[in-house]
Amino acid sequence: MLIFCRKGVSLMAESSSMKIRVEELESGMVTADNVIEPGTDRVLLLKGTTLDSVMIFNLKERYNVGEVFIRKNFSASTISAEMRAEIDIHQSLSTLKDVFGSDDEKPLKEFTKEASKQISNVANDLITSLYADDNILLKMHQLQSYDDYTYKHCLRVAMMSVTIGKSLDLPRSKMRDLCEAALLHDIGKRTIDIDIIRKPGRLTDDEFTAIKKHPQNGYILLRKNGGYSEEIMNAVLMHHEKFDGTGYPLGLKGEQITYLARIITVADVYDALTSNRPYRQPWSVAEAEEFMMGGANTHFDYDIITAFLNAFAPYPVGENVILSDGRHAVVISNNSNVLRPVIRLTDEGEGDEVIDLYNNFKYLTLSIKSLDKDGINE
Ligand SMILES: [Fe+2]
Repeated sequence: MLIFCRKGVSLMAESSSMKIRVEELESGMVTADNVIEPGTDRVLLLKGTTLDSVMIFNLKERYNVGEVFIRKNFSASTISAEMRAEIDIHQSLSTLKDVFGSDDEKPLKEFTKEASKQISNVANDLITSLYADDNILLKMHQLQSYDDYTYKHCLRVAMMSVTIGKSLDLPRSKMRDLCEAALLHDIGKRTIDIDIIRKPGRLTDDEFTAIKKHPQNGYILLRKNGGYSEEIMNAVLMHHEKFDGTGYPLGLKGEQITYLARIITVADVYDALTSNRPYRQPWSVAEAEEFMMGGANTHFDYDIITAFLNAFAPYPVGENVILSDGRHAVVISNNSNVLRPVIRLTDEGEGDEVIDLYNNFKYLTLSIKSLDKDGINE
């Protein structure tokens, strides 16, 4: 498909240019010719445009552009780790969409070897990105949307699981299994009637019974694929088990639930709480973390919850916050209770007073109400 130049204009762009596939584009590359929307005369990008990750994502996902002429003097080393990570996330998302199918498609019948190879590549990219850029979780929130498709949820859960794994000092070889299992944890949902998956509001008993089959269905898809270890398949099978034995499908307890499954459970619940749903607003980070803390040793493994809370401090140092009494403050350090950090008051007339919300009992009735989005970060 010729998509990289205007109709009637020579296909040869500048002699110092090369034609590359959109999958290989990188932020910072400069177009050596106009980029045209396939099947039309519409110019999407002018010659000489420096590409960023959003442009690249749109070229591939929105406009189905196949190839682009870029200038040859581009050096991959000019891309920052952060940019590289962002590119990887967009690429991962589009690969997952290919593998899972969009939510309008018929239920998935088979998980092919080709699909599992793609998932394995996504896992590699994600782990590399997460080791290269600690702030990558901020980008994860950009993936949240009202139409919360399974493939996006799976990507976020994988990013969170790997971050928790890092906090638990999991060896890198285990991280691969964790990431692949997290990417695939809900693949069984793609075998369930989409009307049930997308139903807003409360499910009937029959519908809930159908949904509860997705862990086994995922396990069966992976087993038929033949390329997965028991560890990965069990993590998919057990991601809805609860630490006290009240989960499904097997009602397993404590360490009967595999370690990887226990990590994915934490990431899965947190993502469900903080994502939009057709029938409710997302919970705030603090509300969700309060809930997660409350579930330690019942729903969740205590050690994993601790690692999770360390990795996802809701009020990072330097963050501006609004207190329960309406005053404004900035976080200056964190406590073991991540919801009650040490803060400094920032309103005029407060004299820069420092308050330890956890260790100073005088302030036990004072808490953080919300992040101050309008505040100026220090
Ligand atoms: Fe699930």
